[in-house]
Amino acid sequence: EATTPKPVRIWVDGCFDLFHFGHANAIRQAKAIGGPNAVMVAGVCNDADIAANKGPTVMNEQERYAAVAACKWVDEVVPDAPYMTSLECMDLHNCDICVHGDDITTMADGSDCYSEAKAANRYKEFKRTQGVSTTELVGRMLAMTSERSSSVSATSTFLSTSTRLAQFSNQRDPKPSEKIVYVHGSFDLFHVGHIEFLKAAKARGDFLVVGIHDDQVCNETMGSSFPIMNLNERVLSVLQCRYVDDVIVGAPAVVTKDILTKIGRVNVVCHLAGSPYVLTATDEDPYKVPKEAGLFEEIEAPLSEMTTQTVMDRIFENRKVY
Ligand code: CTP
Repeated sequence: EATTPKPVRIWVDGCFDLFHFGHANAIRQAKAIGGPNAVMVAGVCNDADIAANKGPTVMNEQERYAAVAACKWVDEVVPDAPYMTSLECMDLHNCDICVHGDDITTMADGSDCYSEAKAANRYKEFKRTQGVSTTELVGRMLAMTSERSSSVSATSTFLSTSTRLAQFSNQRDPKPSEKIVYVHGSFDLFHVGHIEFLKAAKARGDFLVVGIHDDQVCNETMGSSFPIMNLNERVLSVLQCRYVDDVIVGAPAVVTKDILTKIGRVNVVCHLAGSPYVLTATDEDPYKVPKEAGLFEEIEAPLSEMTTQTVMDRIFENRKVY
């Protein structure tokens, strides 16, 4: 008689500040180590412990817990996780192994955070994602705010591959019975404001398709220093979110008949009430087509106080400590 093996519980911990697709890819790889039934338990350190060992964070602990919880490969979030990974904590959460990227993580005193797990042979590693880190993102924003750079994605040269896109994709088409919701936007510096919006949009149907504007559209509509993350990066950031079923890479600023036909039978097109429309050269209402077709729905605001500008302001105000 076949018995299902007990699912492997994987422990991953960290600060996950300015949660980015490198973090999401870390969680994805860590979960894969545990096989198809693995349970991903993400330990997230609190603000005080990070400040004592590494320095202040941009996002506070509540924002960081929410960002990790919205990652589709996370099953459980453990807030206030110890900065030094302990077997005691792993056992408390019934985790078999602990997984971390192939970089050394140390305490303020220089000791290896994973020495206990390594000694107990309960430690595994994956490759860090090249080309992104919290420090590098902060650097990009500081460069933008100080130089008022006007070039499109001046500091972001990240390239995606079809393999990486496939790894992040759900690879599933909507079922005929499913109600399809479409939203579009820039989703620059993916943050809790975006997460709350996507959650609310998903609640309007069953299958959420997110159109992501290309760098040119973002630049024309958000201002000369934007986007901070290029299209490749913004696509991965949105795809890792648990509320998202599919994305349109480089969606137009206007929701045309053509885009709706390409997606298929869109049932609802949502927009966050009060947030500005993407303005086009001709000043046309980007939602004219869905409005006329009776597909347009507004989502009540505010869901979250967070905007891309809030993130930029925090970085600029604290530039001396970062
Ligand atoms: N990680 C990764 N690739 C990156 C950045 C982070 O695989 N580009 C992994 C880390 O190795 C770790 C997890 O994400 O396993 C959480 O990392 P975190 O504690 O937030 O700190 P950092 O490693 O410093 O990540 P960052 O430099 O982005 O702050």
